[in-house]
Amino acid sequence: MSTYPPELPGGTWALGGLTVTRFGYGAMQLAGPGVMGPPADHDGALAVLREAVGLGITHIDTSDAYGPRVTNRLIREALHPYPGALHIVTKVGANRDQQGGWPPARRPEDVRRSVHENLESLGLDVLDLVNLRLGDAQGPRPGSLAEPFEALVELQQQGLIRHLGVSNATAEQVAQAQAIAPIVCVQNMYNLAYRQDDELIDGLAEQGVAYVPFFPLGGFSPLQSSALSAVAARLQATPMSVALAWLLRRSPNILLIPGTSSVTHLRENVAGAGLSLSDEDLGELDKLGR
Ligand SMILES: NC(=O)c1ccc[n+]([C@@H]2O[C@H](COP(=O)([O-])OP(=O)(O)OC[C@H]3O[C@@H](n4cnc5c(N)ncnc54)[C@H](OP(=O)(O)O)[C@@H]3O)[C@@H](O)[C@H]2O)c1
Repeated sequence: MSTYPPELPGGTWALGGLTVTRFGYGAMQLAGPGVMGPPADHDGALAVLREAVGLGITHIDTSDAYGPRVTNRLIREALHPYPGALHIVTKVGANRDQQGGWPPARRPEDVRRSVHENLESLGLDVLDLVNLRLGDAQGPRPGSLAEPFEALVELQQQGLIRHLGVSNATAEQVAQAQAIAPIVCVQNMYNLAYRQDDELIDGLAEQGVAYVPFFPLGGFSPLQSSALSAVAARLQATPMSVALAWLLRRSPNILLIPGTSSVTHLRENVAGAGLSLSDEDLGELDKLGR
C-alpha cells in the first residue's frame, strides 16, 4: 500500500514532542549571495519550499539572520498557513552587519528581540524550536552561555517557544545548557570529512537528543575527495547522495537539513539519501574524516 506523503529516507524522529522527518530542509541557501539580500529568483525560492513540503519534509531550518529577514519571509509567503505536521526551527544569537558578517547578538535583550522578530516574520504565535547560536563564523568558542540561554528559557516559560537547542556549541556548552534546561537538539558543523563531534553525537544519541549537522554537503565548499568519488562511482551515485546516506546511517539521532536553492537538487537529495551503503562502503568512507 502506498502512503502519501511518501516515506522519506531515514523515517522520523521525535524532536521533543514534535515528530519530524529525519530528512529536513535548510533554508539558508534561499537568500542572496553571501546569505545577504533577496534571492535572484523569488518564485524559484518559493517553489523549493513548496516542493520540500510536497515531498513530505516536516522539518525546515531557518534564521532571521539569513538575508537578514529574507528566508523567514519567504517561508511565510510560500507556506503560511502552515500544515500542522510542519515544524520550523529557527535560531537566535547572531546579527548581520553591512559587510555580511555575523556579529554576536547574545545579550538577553537581543535574544528577546530576536524571538519576537522570528515570531513576526514567520507569522507564528509560538516557535516550535529555537537554537541559541554560539561561537562565530570560525566555529564554536568556549565560554558561558548562561545569560542568553536563561533568557530563552524565560521566553519558553512565557509560552513563546516549545523547545530549545544550541548551535555551534562546544561539548561543555551543551552540558551547561542541559544543566539549566532540557534541550532537544544540537546543531553543529559535521559531515563526512569534518567529524569533530563524533563523541558528542554518540553521547547525545544515548540521551535521545537530536544532532543536526550543518554543512552536511560541505556548505560553501562542496565535499570533494577521491575516496568519496570512488564509492560514489561504484554505486553509480553522486558524492552528495553518498554524503547524505552516510549521515543517516551514522547515527539514528542525526537529522538532515541539506540546503539548496534548486528544486532539482532537492529532489536529487531526497532520492540520494535513500542510497543503501554496504559495510565495505562504510569502512571506506569512515577513513575520510579520520
Ligand atoms: N547553525 C549554524 O551556524 C548554521 C551555519 C550554516 C548553515 N546552517 C543551516 O544548515 C543548512 C545546511 O547548510 P548549507 O545549506 O549551508 O550547506 P550544505 O547543505 O552542506 O550545502 C549546500 C550547498 O550544496 C549545493 N547542493 C545541494 N544539493 C546539491 C546537489 N544535489 N547537487 C549539487 N549541489 C548541491 C547547494 O547549491 P544549490 O543551491 O545550487 O543546490 C549549496 O551550495 C543551512 O541551510 C542552514 O539552515 C546553520
